[in-house]
Amino acid sequence: MAHILAAAEPLALLMKRPLPQTDGYGYGDDHISTDVVKPTKACHRESDPAAALAAAPHVFGEYGGVNMSIEASATFTVMEPDTMRRLFAGEMGPEGDDMYIYSRHFNPTVLALSRQIAVLEGTEAAYCTASGMSAISSVLMQLVGAGGHVVASRCLYGGTHALLSSFLPRTSGVSTTFVDADDEAAVRAAVRPGETKVVYVETMSNPTLAVADIPMLARVAHEAGAKLVVDNTFTPVVVSPARLGADVVVHSVSKFISGGADIIAGVICGSASLVNSLMDLQDGALMLLGPTMNAKVAAELSGRLPHLPLRMQEHSRRAAEFATRMRRLGLRVTYPGLPEHPHQDRLRRLGNPGYGAGGMLCLDMGTEARANRLMHHLQNTTQFGLMAVSLGYCETLMSCSGNSTSSEIAPEDRARAGISPGLIRVSVGYTGTLEQRWTQFERALALVQQETPGKHHKMMFVKPSALEI
Ligand SMILES: Cc1ncc(COP(=O)(O)O)c(C=O)c1O
Repeated sequence: MAHILAAAEPLALLMKRPLPQTDGYGYGDDHISTDVVKPTKACHRESDPAAALAAAPHVFGEYGGVNMSIEASATFTVMEPDTMRRLFAGEMGPEGDDMYIYSRHFNPTVLALSRQIAVLEGTEAAYCTASGMSAISSVLMQLVGAGGHVVASRCLYGGTHALLSSFLPRTSGVSTTFVDADDEAAVRAAVRPGETKVVYVETMSNPTLAVADIPMLARVAHEAGAKLVVDNTFTPVVVSPARLGADVVVHSVSKFISGGADIIAGVICGSASLVNSLMDLQDGALMLLGPTMNAKVAAELSGRLPHLPLRMQEHSRRAAEFATRMRRLGLRVTYPGLPEHPHQDRLRRLGNPGYGAGGMLCLDMGTEARANRLMHHLQNTTQFGLMAVSLGYCETLMSCSGNSTSSEIAPEDRARAGISPGLIRVSVGYTGTLEQRWTQFERALALVQQETPGKHHKMMFVKPSALEI
């Protein structure tokens, strides 16, 4: 059906034409910015996400504004009736013609943001959605189809785990084999050539912070004729899965990419043909399920992308420092930048230089009760951070994964995935000074120790190399 973003034109996808081009009806001829924005290959050559973003054409507003315009329309006019037929037949569209139908299909502002995220992730194309879950569910439904098979890491965000273990089996007959994604033999044994459509992992697993061996997983998936889909929510800029062999990269944009904890959004990054298929009028999951991003939200998010690399650097710097200090105190801390983390070398090899090991760390307090006491003091007594799910905010956010974002996973599966009941997932923020925040952390920890006499925190020390992650 309507093939609107031609795969043969990947560079065009990176170019924003902010103005309606003239289609013979007088639109756009005299406009200031039409010639300013040119397609460029530069962003494809750059492997550093910040450099790629900077090499991409700047998206000007309709009147030459430094920020993109917001195309808030749900629907779009045509000047001749036959243009409508041609749009629906896929003979005209956003690329080349700058023609749009309706904002559940492509919207110019959402497409402009999507192009920027495609540049960031190094994919041909991308399209933004209303949430991370809608990005994940749409792309899985598109790629897998009824009765298909998925191989997935056993440690995934609880919502994704529930989608694969209950919702998709019930609604589509899709079955999933959950494996230790670090075990190549186990992944190879689980994939069924011809039947397995998708291998699914998170770059850095939620909440255990295992780093996926993306090149290995891509090899195994491709040999079996499957696609590798990677959720890069924890590590935008830090790791670029598509540059390592992933076919599709999804994000909960609600997290680090947004950074504001005020927007729920998602994105699917991949080939132009994938985006076309998702938007197909007859058969596209985005077009037919309709998890549409609002243009106003897209413009808001576009203003946050330029400082994403800087934010990630500071999240990483502080998380690395806190993890090191917590370890020195004898706490049971998991952070992929620590030397004893089994994937430290892998992350160094696969990660983009200069962005550290990400802003997430895990602290295992042994029991849920101790985890709760510590979080209570960290929020209510010393103001180190906030008890809240989600991540990527300027303030530190803490949650006990077992009873919150991983609670959808059955207790025995949580245990196998290494999610202990006392595990606190910490998204390290960057407000205040680092020393101020550390003092707040130490004060809260001391209060927990006073409340449980005889249980000095050093007693919780477990040789980090023995940690299951
Ligand atoms: C790794 C990961 N992927 C996906 C999601 C879902 O994203 P959203 O809440 O934007 O739907 C979340 C959290 O909510 C997450 O942590």
